[in-house]
Amino acid sequence: MTDDLSSNVPPIEDWNRLLDGRVAVVTGGGGGIGRAISELFARHGAHVELIDIDPDSARATEAEILGAGGSARAHIADVTDFAAVSEVAAAVLAEHPAIQVLVNNVGDYRPLHRFRESSPESWTAMYDINLFHMFAVTRVFLESMIDGGGGSIVNVHSVEGMRGYPGDPVYGAMKAAAAAFTTDLAVGMGRHGIRVNGIGPDLTQTAQVDYIGTSVGHEHLWEAWAPVGRLGRPEDQARVALFLASDLSAFVTGHNVPVDGGTRAGGGWFWSPAERRFVNRPKGL
Ligand SMILES: NC(=O)c1ccc[n+]([C@@H]2O[C@H](COP(=O)([O-])OP(=O)(O)OC[C@H]3O[C@@H](n4cnc5c(N)ncnc54)[C@H](O)[C@@H]3O)[C@@H](O)[C@H]2O)c1
Repeated sequence: MTDDLSSNVPPIEDWNRLLDGRVAVVTGGGGGIGRAISELFARHGAHVELIDIDPDSARATEAEILGAGGSARAHIADVTDFAAVSEVAAAVLAEHPAIQVLVNNVGDYRPLHRFRESSPESWTAMYDINLFHMFAVTRVFLESMIDGGGGSIVNVHSVEGMRGYPGDPVYGAMKAAAAAFTTDLAVGMGRHGIRVNGIGPDLTQTAQVDYIGTSVGHEHLWEAWAPVGRLGRPEDQARVALFLASDLSAFVTGHNVPVDGGTRAGGGWFWSPAERRFVNRPKGL
């Protein structure tokens, strides 16, 4: 066996600035998980080009990052509109020859349609907000990433694309497709120095999913709802995004990580606060 001592593992100069000098684009970067990602990436030295449809959130996040001494620019755009996405890409690439990090984070389950009440219009809406924009934003930035020598793409989809979701199978299908796109793209892009990984969130408090407001009086049940025993926060997602975006994960590509407090792992098993044990047939529902 030959021991090759010359390492080609990318060195990490400063463990507190894991994205120093990199340009990161974050979609939906003004609110919720996207905002936490934008802020954490900026704290780690990235210049963040955040894209959000909501001007107030976009500008507030930009101001927060600048106020904390970071670097950011907000773009107000609808990522389901290819012309708008192309305009943002032109504006970003006019300032920077390439980007090194792309986080496709936008997505929504609303308006929720049960499949039996769904329609071609509702299917198209689920496609646009959960999948189309991932293709669009990736497409407009990919060549610059290749030409610039590589980078990391992080797709935020959902744990619902990684398990059976009865609420809206069309939403689940779009998220599963986003996870497959992640894996498929990764295989071809590795040789260009681009890694592609995904995050499947669950149980994370944001404006879109108000777990706190809808759990009042039942907070003691978190130990039953999530194996880690608590509600998730956008910061929980952002930390995993940082890992996937940075050289900490230099040898990781094509994977989808459930960031879900263990709900996928524990599927079918529930902690019973009354019985003080896991049960697969909870009583009292
Ligand atoms: N929060 C959770 O527990 C959870 C669970 C599963 C999946 N997810 C996924 O995580 C991602 C982020 O979710 P979140 O909970 O932070 O949502 P959120 O609604 O709180 O935040 C989404 C952000 O994206 C922006 N946005 C929405 N539509 C846009 C568009 N067309 N163009 C540009 N910006 C747009 C919004 O203004 C907002 O700032 C989504 O893909 C969502 O499906 C979240």
